[in-house]
Amino acid sequence: MNILTKTADGSNTLFNQTIGEHYHSAHGALQESKHVFIDAGLKFAIAKNPNQEINILEVGFGTGLNFILSFAHCEENNIHLNYTGIEAFPLSQDVIEETGYKAYVSPEIWEKFINKYDATLLNKQKLSSNCELTIAHTKLIAFDSKAKFDLIYYDAFSVQHQPEMWTNEMIAHACSFLKVGGIFVSYAITGNLKRAVKACGFTIEKLPGAPGKREMLRAIKSAHTSMSH
Ligand SMILES: C[S@@+](CC[C@H](N)C(=O)[O-])C[C@H]1O[C@@H](n2cnc3c(N)ncnc32)[C@H](O)[C@@H]1O
Repeated sequence: MNILTKTADGSNTLFNQTIGEHYHSAHGALQESKHVFIDAGLKFAIAKNPNQEINILEVGFGTGLNFILSFAHCEENNIHLNYTGIEAFPLSQDVIEETGYKAYVSPEIWEKFINKYDATLLNKQKLSSNCELTIAHTKLIAFDSKAKFDLIYYDAFSVQHQPEMWTNEMIAHACSFLKVGGIFVSYAITGNLKRAVKACGFTIEKLPGAPGKREMLRAIKSAHTSMSH
């Protein structure tokens, strides 16, 4: 169902045959992850709110590339990371190892992730004194959480290939788990997505996209939202 392929920056991605799309940009999986989620998301969130702790929710955990880069950044900067991934169709540990993403983090970070990967699908796991990971094996629509998050990585397949992930209801559901002042980032920036986050009381910013994409979206949940659970 998933075929390993190389992207333009030399990093691998998976092509999902059922959906008909890659897990990452064909222009570069690694550079997209760094540009959209680490630089425009994580680094911005830390600068905006320099606590020594951050709670991240990722929609579409997939291979865990966004997670391992976030884990490495937080370890380097001594920030406590509480990370929840939502994943309807978790990959096997073998497939994740075949991605070659081990090369992009230290051996310690990789081992801590890969050794506990299967367990994170069942329960929250402490990967280090500074990092907890849980992967909710569920569809986004069925996800619930009492905890609220500082940052959402919205990394679903595109609206062309999986339109149900981009409806106003689905975006509002994901955004309901964000704290006031929290940040939403996505590689995508369609008119409908902008309208959907604005309807949830977000202020939007268009940023230069990762190579191959003109723009990306960053949105901040304002104090006046009416969309909290
Ligand atoms: C674009 S890929 C994510 C890439 C991922 N962030 C990575 O770095 O590998 C989209 C992911 O969403 C997952 N997915 C598909 N439908 C979903 C749903 N209804 N709820 C949650 N996840 C879903 C897919 O299985 C896939 O892993």
